[in-house]
Amino acid sequence: MATTHLYLFLLLILSSAASSSSDISSLFDFATTLTNADRLNWDTIQKPLCNDDGNSSDWTGVLCKNGAINGLRLENMSLSGTINATALVPLRLFSLSLLNNSFSGPFPADVKKLTRLRRLFLSRNNFSGAIPDKAFIGMAALREVDLANNGFVGKIPNSLIRVQLTNLTVQNNQFEGKIPDFWQEGLVANFSSNRLRGAIPDVLSYEDASMFSGNLGLCGLPLSPCPKIWYRKTAFIAAASAAAGVALISILLLLWRRRRTRPMRYQKSVNHFKSEATKAESIAADAIHNKAEEQGKIHFVRSGRERFELEDLLKAAAEVLGSGSFGSSYKALLLTGKPYVVRRFKQMSNVGKEEFYHHMRKLGRVTHPNLLPLVGFYYKKEEKLLISDFVENGSLASHLHGKRKPDQPGLDWPTRLRIVKGVARGLAHLYAEFPSLALPHGHLKSSNVLLDGAFEAVVSDYALAPVINRDHAQEFMVAHKSPESMQSDKVTRKTDVWSLGILILEVLTGRFPANYLKSGRGPGADLATWVNSVVREEWTGEVFDKEMGLGRSCEGQMLRLLKIGMCCCESNVEKRWGMEEAAARIEELKEREGDEDYSSYASEGEGYSSASRAVTDDDFSFSRAS
Ligand SMILES: *[C@@H]1O[C@H](CO)[C@@H](O)[C@H](O)[C@H]1NC(C)=O
Ligand SMILES: *[C@@H]1O[C@H](CO)[C@@H](O)[C@H](O)[C@H]1NC(C)=O
Ligand SMILES: *[C@@H]1O[C@H](CO)[C@@H](O)[C@H](O)[C@H]1NC(C)=O
Ligand SMILES: *[C@@H]1O[C@H](CO)[C@@H](O)[C@H](O)[C@H]1NC(C)=O
Ligand SMILES: *[C@@H]1O[C@H](CO)[C@@H](O)[C@H](O)[C@H]1NC(C)=O
Ligand SMILES: *[C@@H]1O[C@H](CO)[C@@H](O)[C@H](O)[C@H]1NC(C)=O
Ligand SMILES: *[C@@H]1O[C@H](CO)[C@@H](O)[C@H](O)[C@H]1NC(C)=O
Repeated sequence: MATTHLYLFLLLILSSAASSSSDISSLFDFATTLTNADRLNWDTIQKPLCNDDGNSSDWTGVLCKNGAINGLRLENMSLSGTINATALVPLRLFSLSLLNNSFSGPFPADVKKLTRLRRLFLSRNNFSGAIPDKAFIGMAALREVDLANNGFVGKIPNSLIRVQLTNLTVQNNQFEGKIPDFWQEGLVANFSSNRLRGAIPDVLSYEDASMFSGNLGLCGLPLSPCPKIWYRKTAFIAAASAAAGVALISILLLLWRRRRTRPMRYQKSVNHFKSEATKAESIAADAIHNKAEEQGKIHFVRSGRERFELEDLLKAAAEVLGSGSFGSSYKALLLTGKPYVVRRFKQMSNVGKEEFYHHMRKLGRVTHPNLLPLVGFYYKKEEKLLISDFVENGSLASHLHGKRKPDQPGLDWPTRLRIVKGVARGLAHLYAEFPSLALPHGHLKSSNVLLDGAFEAVVSDYALAPVINRDHAQEFMVAHKSPESMQSDKVTRKTDVWSLGILILEVLTGRFPANYLKSGRGPGADLATWVNSVVREEWTGEVFDKEMGLGRSCEGQMLRLLKIGMCCCESNVEKRWGMEEAAARIEELKEREGDEDYSSYASEGEGYSSASRAVTDDDFSFSRAS
């Protein structure tokens, strides 16, 4: 997957200007999931999207009109990968052409979110599969659709009769069944070389016969007449749908007129974007040139480490690693060849400078193999950059839930156990290091557990609760999704234990907990509850992620870890273990059953309630039966 490289300062400018609706960051979001995106050369262009004349662009494939982007024309470029149309929604595109590339797989379903789109050209790719019947619903502006020369199968979607099409080309696919009852007068179409049957809609009966050639059994003008029965049925349907069509057009026209009032606002937001960009540019320029000033300095919090200036960092080649609820993170490669991760926080503005410096220096003293060291920071009132080492194997989340190449194996059980042990050791160290903090971690989740070259866990984003704005923390920090926080708005020294429990269940099940962490639904709607219900209703083996490889010799240990995870998720804080105990239990686990006695587990169970009650020692016998 190609990534987009830019100078860090440009990325910072772009994301400054972005606030919510930066066109450029929408494009980068779109490019992130494309393969061969480097052919676009978007990363090397240091100009506004649209040139001063307002109707041209130096950005490959970008079409501009009246100073705003209005189309993307990425043709003949061997692009492939995933089409993330959702990323393009803010651009309010008028046309999108991906003609003659190498895209494959199903029709990009989120295209229907591009409700202003008038032209959609996807021909000459390698798309396959059926297009959902409702694929074009809501695309009131759509006029020209080109799906030709792909491998589409199934029916031509009926939702196409609900838009005011003028052009439709679907030749050289494997569409089957009937041609939908098009009613759009003057439709220019091509249906040749598919597997279509049945009557040709009346509105197309004056067209060139070549647009129907090479199908299984089309009939009616301009081809030979249909057997009687076909004819009558279609005449009826055509009349009915024409009536419905007229009603629909009037509604669509009405909506369309209303929408036309928007471009003004759009223009305004573009101007806003431009002025924001200029502002951000001058801020960054200030930062670069005012080295003498305190505010342009990176503060290093660790001795014995390479020192560099903000200027070096801003000029480093960089790429976006991700953006989360707390801000974006970037990988920046210094000229010395060493990569760093730069995290940008905007939600730390409520804490005073002294306090912030003090806390960062404390973080700088944290040293443990399972904790990502903070290297330095950059302080400005309205935003902060935290600099840490780059960890080479990415996050645990990406390994558990990301797309993998077919030849790349999933994380096996021994690796997962080692990761959980590493996380627990890191957390235990944090608890010792920050005896007065309620949340020594506060934001433990699989995307904050990084994996080093040997797949050892390196926990990041810890101990930030004291410097994050309170309202933001309450909305986004994992700890604030815990049962006690949802119930009574309280967090305790045991809250991180709950996060650890969820993480353990995620590691064992391979399920993404966000799906189960439904905020606003009160405690109980979490992964632990789900695991509990599966364990109760079915059999425990069902919950384990098949990718870690199940084997007789390790299932007992997996079950023990499952049980520990559920004890950590105990919703009654009084009964929940403390971090020390949780870490000690995890430490006892082994990769496989050894000759050591683990019967001590048979006697425990007191005090497990709700979430944990369902897993009993009986489950051990189930595991052998399955
Ligand atoms: C772009 O717009 C300017 C006026 O704004 C016009 O002079 C020029 O010819 C246009 N260029 C193109 C390629 O349409
Ligand atoms: C792609 O190739 C076709 C045919 O060679 C050509 O007509 C079209 O202009 C090309 N598109 C772009 C954007 O260059
Ligand atoms: C498709 O794009 C390739 C380059 O990727 C070009 O060589 C070829 O001529 C194009 N074909 C058509 C039909 O446009
Ligand atoms: C598509 O882009 C949107 C907006 O940038 C992003 O939230 C979403 O995760 C992306 N989807 C995929 C599959 O990458
Ligand atoms: C198109 O996709 C099919 C599978 O759907 C694959 O077998 C074929 O090799 C692909 N062709 C090209 C040119 O990528
Ligand atoms: C769409 O149809 C119109 C005639 O209605 C034709 O002039 C135009 O070239 C067609 N567009 C495409 C992309 O084929
Ligand atoms: C329809 O497409 C086929 C195959 O590409 C072509 O031979 C035929 O001339 C086209 N007919 C029309 C009317 O465009």
